[in-house]
Amino acid sequence: MVTIRTATDTDRDAIWKIFCEVGAPGDTYAFDPKISREDALAYWFRADTRTYVAEKDREIVGTYVLRPNQPGGGAHVANAAFMVAVHARGKGVGRAMGEHSLSEASCFGFRAMQFNFVVSTNESALRLWKQLKFKIVGTLPGAFRHPTKEYVDVYVMFRSLMDD
Ligand SMILES: CC(C)(COP(=O)(O)OP(=O)(O)OC[C@H]1O[C@@H](n2cnc3c(N)ncnc32)[C@H](O)[C@@H]1OP(=O)(O)O)[C@@H](O)C(=O)NCCC(=O)NCCS
Repeated sequence: MVTIRTATDTDRDAIWKIFCEVGAPGDTYAFDPKISREDALAYWFRADTRTYVAEKDREIVGTYVLRPNQPGGGAHVANAAFMVAVHARGKGVGRAMGEHSLSEASCFGFRAMQFNFVVSTNESALRLWKQLKFKIVGTLPGAFRHPTKEYVDVYVMFRSLMDD
């Protein structure tokens, strides 16, 4: 059973731990591999951002953020980013957070959700987002330097929130 709730300051250590685990292989997000704890958490708890954690058996096993994809005229489209602890993957945490984010985004009045940077080799993410009705609306050729596969494509993925 996964519980998803708004993150608090006391969750920062657990979030940083997951951030490090996700960042270390360097194959999913274009973060500076040497990003400091301070900078990572400042990004994850940015002023325009809602930050959530997923708990299972009282352990924080995932985290996600929800924010406007753009300011001003682009602020009706949400953006989100997700991270699941390595040992907790493949057990439904990512899907629970994805579904939660769509529901939260609808509640907050966003009209759509967009992912700007889905690395084309990230099979688990791609499969999950497609299952959650996201479509690939653009391909950025060679936009990600993968640690072992060199320059790989990146997808922009989008789904409306107006159909539900
Ligand atoms: C992508 C990520 C969030 C998925 O979280 P998860 O908890 O492992 O996913 P779930 O267990 O909820 O699985 C949901 C779906 O994801 C896909 N999936 C999960 N693990 C997979 C794997 N190893 N291979 C292929 N698809 C996989 C499947 O479609 C799965 O649904 P199914 O089991 O019904 O087929 C997680 O792997 C992660 O944090 N990865 C590193 C960071 C990242 O890539 N974030 C997303 C960037 S766009």
